[in-house]
Amino acid sequence: MNAVVFSFRLLGTYNLVRVSALTRRLLIPCLAMVPWPFLVLRSQDAFQGEPHLPSPLFHYADAEQSFPQWIQNVTVPNSPARADNTPSDNPITDAGATLGRVLFYDRRLSRNGAVSCGSCHQQSHGFSDTKRFSSGLYGDPTRRHAMGLTDARYYGDGRFFWDERARSLEQQTLEPLQDPTEMDMTLPELVDRLSRTSFYPPLFKAAFGTPEVSADRISRALSQFVRALVSLTSKFDSCLDSSGSAHFEKTLSTQEFMGLRLFTNVPGYTRISVGCGRCHTTFAQIGNERRNNGLDELTLNGGKFKTPSLRNVAVRGPYMHDGRFATLMDVVNFYDHGVCDNPSLDPMLRDPVTGQVRRLNLTQEQKEALVAFLNTLTDPKFLTDPRFSDPFVTERN
Ligand code: HEC
Ligand code: HEC
Repeated sequence: MNAVVFSFRLLGTYNLVRVSALTRRLLIPCLAMVPWPFLVLRSQDAFQGEPHLPSPLFHYADAEQSFPQWIQNVTVPNSPARADNTPSDNPITDAGATLGRVLFYDRRLSRNGAVSCGSCHQQSHGFSDTKRFSSGLYGDPTRRHAMGLTDARYYGDGRFFWDERARSLEQQTLEPLQDPTEMDMTLPELVDRLSRTSFYPPLFKAAFGTPEVSADRISRALSQFVRALVSLTSKFDSCLDSSGSAHFEKTLSTQEFMGLRLFTNVPGYTRISVGCGRCHTTFAQIGNERRNNGLDELTLNGGKFKTPSLRNVAVRGPYMHDGRFATLMDVVNFYDHGVCDNPSLDPMLRDPVTGQVRRLNLTQEQKEALVAFLNTLTDPKFLTDPRFSDPFVTERN
């Protein structure tokens, strides 16, 4: 059904730009050859085919996971469990997250069938985009850089977007659908479109008990899928035993271990930390409130942004809310000597005695160690896990 989208775009282009007489002479006969009535008749169901789902379903529910103690048990030091934003009225179920996965990858969710959530949030890139700004359904750029979704579940205050304007994930997931740059749908149109397919009503029934499609259920299912995106198998994780005791020195290389010690204090070792872990907290390396990390001298609304989890960070550049840094070394150089003074600058980036903006004066070796440590947060198994992959791609399943 790419033909529909393609012809649609062609028409748009034809109207918008002044085409030469020659092009016009070639284009009109071409368009006349497209079997329009046939394409229009097949419309909704033909957007992207049907998803290919495993039987039995993949497991997403917490009870079905072999979660280690350190990620489940609030009493383990540094466990992200305390910051889990899963609401009691929307726990992850296998059928709910399965529906969420289908919705996440379905281009029907955008008006012209051009993009799905997965177009901007790509699994192989930690559910972010390699582009500084992503392209929405009409090819226009998004205002900010697409956020990585790994471990989004462990953001303590439960707010979403760079500026935290969404009060919950359930509220957030309906926003891109209605955003005129991203997917440009209305909720009633979307409900209608999904209800007319053959496969959605049974998926809604499996997830919520009845086949009704509703905006509330769409947001719940998408949220369950996003919360299921937990990383547990990075090199960093292999340092933690199931109880949460850490064996960093045994498992990490000397360079990675030095990077970890620069990132955060490691009990039993001399303090050399430059304090990254004070904002990127817990074993999910994630914040719990908006902060200003000194990207600019002049800031709008305090210039405070979410401190994202650094899980899979190495595969999801460019970095920061506006994707201004291309590499992790650029980020480290920024924290080393580029932090800008401004009235909202987080106190943790100032010298506690003088109040001056901190300069870290790291050596090249220390900078490389920090980058090496950030690379231990990459989780190849997560990045290729079939449970999180596109169900509309046949070869993969
Ligand atoms: C056209 C690209 C695009 C599409 C399509 C898109 N997103 Fe996003 N997403 C973004 C961008 C850009 C941001 C950051 C926006 C901001 O903060 O203003 C974002 C932010 C998010 C966040 C916030 C993460 C956090 O930690 O706060 C979530 C969750 C999310 N998107 C989920 C989805 C879901 C679910 C869909 C499909 C319904 C979707 N996105 C569709 C580009 C996209
Ligand atoms: C004062 C809190 C604070 C400290 C300390 C801090 N960060 Fe950050 N970090 C943030 C915030 C806030 C952002 C997002 C800022 C934005 O995009 O506007 C961020 C973003 C990042 C990003 C980009 C993430 C992405 O998804 O684009 C990386 C990488 C990073 N920090 C690494 C580090 C390292 C390494 C250190 C230590 C040298 C560190 N941070 C210290 C608050 C902090």
